[in-house]
Amino acid sequence: MDTKYIKITELNNEIEQIQQAGQILKEGGLVAFPTETVYGLGGHALNPQSSHKIYAAKGRPSDNPLIVHICKWEDLAYIVEEIPPEAKKLAEQFWPGPLTMIFRKSDVVPYETTGGLETVAVRMPDHPVALALIEAAGGYVAAPSANTSGRPSPTLAKYVMEDMAGRIDMVLDGGEIGIGIESTIVDLTGEVPEILRPGYVTREMLQEQLGKVETDQTILSNESDLKPKAPGMKYRHYAPKGDLTLVSGAEDKVTNWINQQLELAKASGKVTAVICTQETQDKYKADFIKCAGSRNDEAQIARQLYRILRELDDDKADVIFAEAFETKGMGQAIMNRLLKAAGHHIEYV
Ligand code: TXA
Ligand code: MG
Repeated sequence: MDTKYIKITELNNEIEQIQQAGQILKEGGLVAFPTETVYGLGGHALNPQSSHKIYAAKGRPSDNPLIVHICKWEDLAYIVEEIPPEAKKLAEQFWPGPLTMIFRKSDVVPYETTGGLETVAVRMPDHPVALALIEAAGGYVAAPSANTSGRPSPTLAKYVMEDMAGRIDMVLDGGEIGIGIESTIVDLTGEVPEILRPGYVTREMLQEQLGKVETDQTILSNESDLKPKAPGMKYRHYAPKGDLTLVSGAEDKVTNWINQQLELAKASGKVTAVICTQETQDKYKADFIKCAGSRNDEAQIARQLYRILRELDDDKADVIFAEAFETKGMGQAIMNRLLKAAGHHIEYV
């Protein structure tokens, strides 16, 4: 299949291309598009064939449900059984934005889209191209991140092309993504709202709106008898090809320990890399120093993380160490993704 690549610079000038992309989705094709979190791989959410195609293009297990993207609040009622009052509150505060809510689904949503579940995940993205495309497609676009299953979610259209060229109909390039990690997922179908995937909207922000909010215990732990409630969270994700280890502890201890390990790795002829912060980047002696940003600006670290993980493959890094992060605020999302990338290999020094 020939994948059409379209650069969107000024939305007003490219309305025609968006209409064309919407038509592709209506006819059951696939279009990758920018959102504020990561690039999404869109298909028509109410067409079971489209969901099949999405799973095939990503190489994704079909028990892993898709998020349905909408462009206006009024469209929510059609695809869910009921709208709990918490949802209205959260939508007023965070939609459009990087928050996905889980509802009981209505009959119009096919099981192919929900991975066989009775619930449906819904999000209204905060990106003009995404909103225009959803509107042009008729209102309901299923979109996982536009990466091959297991790889980091794409934050640039070139990464979408790397993974999806030849597999989908069209890629809309909206430039670099602002947030860089996927939306926060909150389940509203239980008694107490529960975070199933941490993201830019933090637990603290949700608590401010709702009071009590729980967090799925599997998000930061590696207990094999605990099953994550978001099916997709059980898969190893984002992992670079090299061997990644997280290192947690006081700054001096971490830098010293990592440097010792780097020396050993170099001595055995390995290509080495460190994922670190502005505060420590001058202290390491590795072949590749990947500074993710300042510890005072976790949003910046989140934005760079997936690009760095992909670059490590291009650099052919064999042995990689990453500094660990605090697990409050956005740090929780960063640590969740790093732990998955490292297969939960963490050293406490
Ligand atoms: O920021 C994002 O959410 C991006 C952009 C493109 O919107 N999308 C995204 O989709 O990250 P995806 O498919 O890569 O991740 C969706 C996650 C998976 O872990 C999946 O298991 C979970 O959401 N999920 C979807 N529907 C669910 C449901 N009904 N119940 C529990 N988890 C669900
Ligand atoms: Mg994904």
